[in-house]
Amino acid sequence: VEGRILHEAQGFQIDLGCDENHLALHFNPRFNDDTDGAVIVCNSKIDGSWGQEEREKHMTGFLSPFSLKIVLKLTGDMFEVEMPNGHEIKFPNRHILDVITYVRIRGDLKLTAFKIY
Ligand code: GAL
Repeated sequence: VEGRILHEAQGFQIDLGCDENHLALHFNPRFNDDTDGAVIVCNSKIDGSWGQEEREKHMTGFLSPFSLKIVLKLTGDMFEVEMPNGHEIKFPNRHILDVITYVRIRGDLKLTAFKIY
């Protein structure tokens, strides 16, 4: 996923799963979260219900407002999200989903490129 973070962005999300109620990965950088301020929230959703959140508090600084490239990989039982500076955020594939058939990207991100390998 490549894009630019919009001016005064609140956040954006990249959802991977099989439909909007079944997400193996909800990857959600937030710049003004009520609890943590700048934080990356990851979660899953089953039958429309969110699971347990995982929060990374020191990662949003790596999201350049000018351009960014985020690579999301599913390697068996883990998602690996490669941040622009090469750091990785890991999130377990809780549903043991092998095939992603649904992708949604939305929020304060101007998408410039999207590629599936
Ligand atoms: C909720 C938020 C959802 C999603 C979820 C992740 O508070 O409304 O959009 O980010 O947290 O756990």
